[in-house]
Amino acid sequence: MRILVTGGAGFIGSNFVHHLVRHTDASVTVLDKLTYAASRESLAGLPEDRVELVVGDIVDAGLVEPLVAQHDAVVHYAAESHNDNSLNDPSPFIQTNLIGTFTLLEAVRKAGVRFHHVSTDEVYGDLPLVDDTADDPKRFTEETPYQPSSPYSASKAGSDHLVRAWVRSFGVQATISNCSNNYGPWQHIEKFIPRQITEVLDGRRPKLYGSGENVRDWIHTEDHSSAVLRILEQGRIGETYLIGADGEKSNLEVVRMILRLMGRAEDDFEHVTDRAGHDLRYAIDSGKLRTELGWSPEYGDFEAGLAQTVAWYRDNEAWWRPNKDATEASYAAKGQ
Ligand code: NAD
Ligand code: TYD
Repeated sequence: MRILVTGGAGFIGSNFVHHLVRHTDASVTVLDKLTYAASRESLAGLPEDRVELVVGDIVDAGLVEPLVAQHDAVVHYAAESHNDNSLNDPSPFIQTNLIGTFTLLEAVRKAGVRFHHVSTDEVYGDLPLVDDTADDPKRFTEETPYQPSSPYSASKAGSDHLVRAWVRSFGVQATISNCSNNYGPWQHIEKFIPRQITEVLDGRRPKLYGSGENVRDWIHTEDHSSAVLRILEQGRIGETYLIGADGEKSNLEVVRMILRLMGRAEDDFEHVTDRAGHDLRYAIDSGKLRTELGWSPEYGDFEAGLAQTVAWYRDNEAWWRPNKDATEASYAAKGQ
C-alpha cells in the first residue's frame, strides 16, 4: 500500500504516520504545507525508505492530482484546526478545510483512489451539561444533526458534506471519522492542555476560559490513530464512524489534574475572558466503531495519559519554547 497522509506533519497526522510505520508495511507520503502548526521534528527518525515529505498546499490541484494518482489511499488530516484562530481570521479555514478538501476529492475521483476524511465531533455543535444524577446523558452519535458553532467547526462540517456528496454523486470510495478532543505529544501549545502545562512549567498560572464548566471528551492521539487505521482497513464505504474513548472531563477538572500532577496547588489557576460562542459539552458514543469494527482504546486511564504528556512537555522544551512568547502574546491581546 502507498498511502498519502495530508497534514502528516501536524499533531495528529504525524502520530498517524508513526502508527502506520509501526503497524503496517505501507509506504507513506506526507503532503503538508508546513504552516505554523506543523513540525518536521515530529517526523524525525522515521525510515527514509518508507516515509517521504512533500511540502505543498492541498489547495494546489496541479500538485495534488498527480500525487494522489501515485497512491492507493489518501488519509486527509490537513486543516486549520484551532477554534480561537478561526474567530480571529476565518479565511484560511475556508481555504484549507473547504477548498482543500474539494481539491482532494476531485483528485481521488479522477484517480479512483480510496479516501478517508478525518473530522471532528465539533460539527454537531454542543450538548447540555450533565448533572451527576443523569442515568443516560445525551452523547453524539452518527445520527446527530449537524449544528456547528464556530468558523472552524462550520468549515469542517462543510468538508464532511462534500465527502458525502462525492460518495453519492460520483461513487468516490470514502469513509469519514469524527473524533473528540485529542491530547498527547507534539500538540501545538496554543491548544488547551499543552498551553496549561507550559504555563505551569514557566511558573505562571493556567488560564481557564469563563467558569471552566465546559466539558470535552478526551482521547489520546494514539487511540485516534488506531481507530483511523481500523476504519481505513475495515470500514464500510460511505459510512461515518465516531471515535471517542469515554473521556469526559470539565476544563476545571483537567486544570486541577495538571496542577496536581505538576506539584502545584489545585486552585492555583485564573479565569480569563471566555471564548465567543464557546461550546458547552462534547461527548461521543463510539458504539458503532466498537461493535462493527471491534475497535477499543488502549489509553483508558486519562490521568496516566496526562501524566505522560506532562512529562513529554517537560522533556521537550526545546521543541515548544520558540513558539511560547508569540502564542501567549496573541492570547494576552484578547484578555485570555
Ligand atoms: P494541526 O493544526 O496540529 O495540524 C494540521 C496540519 O495540516 C499541519 O501540519 C499543517 O501544516 C497542515 N496544513 C494546514 N493547512 C494545509 C494546507 N492548505 N495544505 C497542506 N497542509 C496543510 O491539527 P491537528 O490537531 O493535528 O488536527 C488534524 C486533523 O484532525 C484536522 O482535520 C482536525 O480537524 C482533526 N481533528 C482534530 C482534533 C483535535 O483534538 N486536535 C479532534 C478531532 C479531529
Ligand atoms: P481547545 O484545545 O482549543 O479545543 P476545542 O476548542 O477544539 O475544544 O480547547 C479545549 C477547551 O479548553 C475549550 O473548552 C476551550 C478551553 N480553553 C481554556 O479554558 N483555556 C485555554 O487557554 C484554551 C486554549 C482553551
